[in-house]
Amino acid sequence: MVCRICGDTVDPVLDLGAMPPANILKTSRDERERCFPLVLEKCRGCFNLQLRDCLDEADLYRHYLYLTPNSPSLRSHYARLADHMFGEGYAHEGSFVLEFGSNVGLFLRHLEPRVGRVLGVDPAQNVCAIARERGIETECAFFNRQTAQDLAARHGRPGVVIARHCCAHNKDPHGIIAGVADILPDDGIFIMENAYVLKTLLSNQFDQIYHEHMFYYSIRSVETLFAMHGLRLVDILMAPIHGGSVVFFARRADAKASALRPRNRVQRYRGEEAQALNDALVSVFVENTHKIKADLKALIADLVGRDNQIWAYGATAKGSTLLNFVGITDRQVPFCVDSTPLKQGRYIPMANIEICAEDEAWRGGPDYFLLTAWNYKDEIMEKVRSKGNTRSRFIVPIPAVDIV
Ligand code: TYD
Repeated sequence: MVCRICGDTVDPVLDLGAMPPANILKTSRDERERCFPLVLEKCRGCFNLQLRDCLDEADLYRHYLYLTPNSPSLRSHYARLADHMFGEGYAHEGSFVLEFGSNVGLFLRHLEPRVGRVLGVDPAQNVCAIARERGIETECAFFNRQTAQDLAARHGRPGVVIARHCCAHNKDPHGIIAGVADILPDDGIFIMENAYVLKTLLSNQFDQIYHEHMFYYSIRSVETLFAMHGLRLVDILMAPIHGGSVVFFARRADAKASALRPRNRVQRYRGEEAQALNDALVSVFVENTHKIKADLKALIADLVGRDNQIWAYGATAKGSTLLNFVGITDRQVPFCVDSTPLKQGRYIPMANIEICAEDEAWRGGPDYFLLTAWNYKDEIMEKVRSKGNTRSRFIVPIPAVDIV
């Protein structure tokens, strides 16, 4: 196998075993899930981390159950990102903003009043339909060179192209980035947000590894990727969402010199990453992954052995990896609450845990919630308490097993 960014040799670093695609929830307990290997490998050249085995994106996204939750922490992230875009002059009131992987259009809805025009692009029919109902013009397509050219021919070239948490969701990022480079005008800006591998590794987020996440981007691997398509990194914004994310801002390498001058923080973050991202960090991450597995398995066995009821909170994709890698099933954790109506009544694959509405968590609730949506820890705990559940305690699995 080779690096799907730079073509150099890769080495396996972590094997999580055969796992079901995390967002393909079962409609009945008896349905048999299909499992595929989940192996993380690392490039010797650009330090790209990637999945060894990639599923076909058409299978993963045609009918998609992940709908962006309308959460306070996401709203404040949108506000900060939008302020950064306007404050740094990347967007203005006349901008045409195209976002691909736009899901139900929450970020575009946030931007719409401040720019000239917004257009969403998403591959899932069901998700596009919801976005349109909510008033966001959305085309149903996978973004690649061909669709980029087609979109530009029909709508004109967008001065701002956004891709949030979707460029790791495809085995060929070259097709995506080439499409961006094709349609970006000379003064255009490309904004790409992803989980940041340094944060993923430093806080032991092995549950971020699932089939949809085919890449774990670093500044180094992204600069390598951008350079191959004539794009240049000019700015970086770090964000706490999704356990630690990074927003990359890039321009065409042939843009005018003043637009290409990188912000000071690019140099600083690049330096910090060069110091911290190394083989020793990956080894510690792998060790900690096995420790969390052992600790959580023991804690759940102990609590269940003493007749405590445990439910999961948040039918996240991360939760599927966490539960199935640790080996937790409906025998220990019978229910998982989640706010997404599309997920309710379905079952987490392999673990076979039934998903139910969040209000089940407020009436009485179990002794413990295993926080599979640990990235929303504060707001979920606050919500549960404010709804009158003062009884349930929370097991936080990441960055280390803890009870709060
Ligand atoms: P997220 O952490 O975005 O996901 P993933 O690991 O799948 O990328 O998913 C959050 C899930 O948690 C989503 O299914 C909605 C659910 N959720 C709640 O049930 N209650 C809440 O208060 C919040 C914020 C999310």
